[in-house]
Amino acid sequence: MLEPGAARDEDPPRRRGLVVRPRLGEFSEPHVPLDEAAAFYSLAGVQPPDDRPYAWSNSVCTVDGVLHFGDGHHVSDVALRSVPHASRWSAADWRMLNTGWAHADAVLVTGEILRKEPDAGCIVRFDDLVALRTSLLGRAAPQPVQVVVSASGDFPLSAPLFTDPAVSEVWIATTPDAVPALAARLAAAKDAIHASVTLVVDPDPDPRSGRPARVDLRALFARLRKAGIAFLDVSAGGSLIRHCIDCGLLDEMRWTMAGQLAGPLDQSGVPRPAMFPTSGTFAKYESYTPHETPLLAIRGVRAAGDHLIMFRGEWEHRRPRGPTAA
Ligand SMILES: NC(=O)c1ccc[n+]([C@@H]2O[C@H](COP(=O)([O-])OP(=O)(O)OC[C@H]3O[C@@H](n4cnc5c(N)ncnc54)[C@H](OP(=O)(O)O)[C@@H]3O)[C@@H](O)[C@H]2O)c1
Repeated sequence: MLEPGAARDEDPPRRRGLVVRPRLGEFSEPHVPLDEAAAFYSLAGVQPPDDRPYAWSNSVCTVDGVLHFGDGHHVSDVALRSVPHASRWSAADWRMLNTGWAHADAVLVTGEILRKEPDAGCIVRFDDLVALRTSLLGRAAPQPVQVVVSASGDFPLSAPLFTDPAVSEVWIATTPDAVPALAARLAAAKDAIHASVTLVVDPDPDPRSGRPARVDLRALFARLRKAGIAFLDVSAGGSLIRHCIDCGLLDEMRWTMAGQLAGPLDQSGVPRPAMFPTSGTFAKYESYTPHETPLLAIRGVRAAGDHLIMFRGEWEHRRPRGPTAA
């Protein structure tokens, strides 16, 4: 009998060496023990590409694919935090999110997250995970570089991502038009911002009429790799993640499914953000035939209590990525 996670003859080749051991399991408690957390999100044996970071997305969503209830909640609140008999386990999602950040050289969020979540910041909040990061994983800085992608540059500068003394480096990837106003706001807020902030401008190489200016994500990923970022956690919302998938930039999808149903609109009638949106300002999402659809190979699964299930899947991109994709 094969060990869980061992390769079988008929398995397709693993592109980057990702193996999760054991492949199936459940976490023993909501404060996921360090050995269980590190085993599930281990990057041992993973080879980052030369031209971009090895990258994964990480999302928690309802069974109907909603990422955030909205309704004025200041944090993405779908991990069952308000369901008394299940909420104990929402701590497992937070713990695993932190575990992913602890393994990353950089984390990527968006202007939209900074507008919707005043407490935004992918800052590792568990001492044992910071210790894992700096000792066993050999990351030089205690916290990952925070990367913000925003075409407009129009987001508050008051979130912990900018103001928490633990964060030492922030990159903002934006468009040429956004730079003057953003640079002026950064200068005005400089006393409250502890991190060193770098503005990165990689304009879209294929501006089409009628399409808003945007950041060239492939150029950004290449630039991050050149700057020494080998592992990138994309903690963005669904529209940026979908754009990254269409560009062939994601190696993994990490996905927590929370056993609850939200519905498409918040209580004011505003559409809730979706894990896989079907339209968006910044990308017309690709549609695929059965012969070319990206495949997601499930490498690891963990149950966390009765209502949360976490997947770690590896993308196999089958359609060649042209320069104008997405
Ligand atoms: N449950 C979870 O795991 C989870 C995780 C993350 C976020 N969320 C929630 O999801 C929601 C956000 O998701 P979303 O899909 O609406 O938005 P999103 O994907 O997070 O962000 C979209 C924004 O990203 C920027 N952007 C995207 N592609 C770009 C490009 N190529 N060039 C330049 N800028 C680009 C733009 O920012 P600008 O408008 O600033 O130009 C755009 O409006 C929020 O409510 C957040 O709280 C939930």
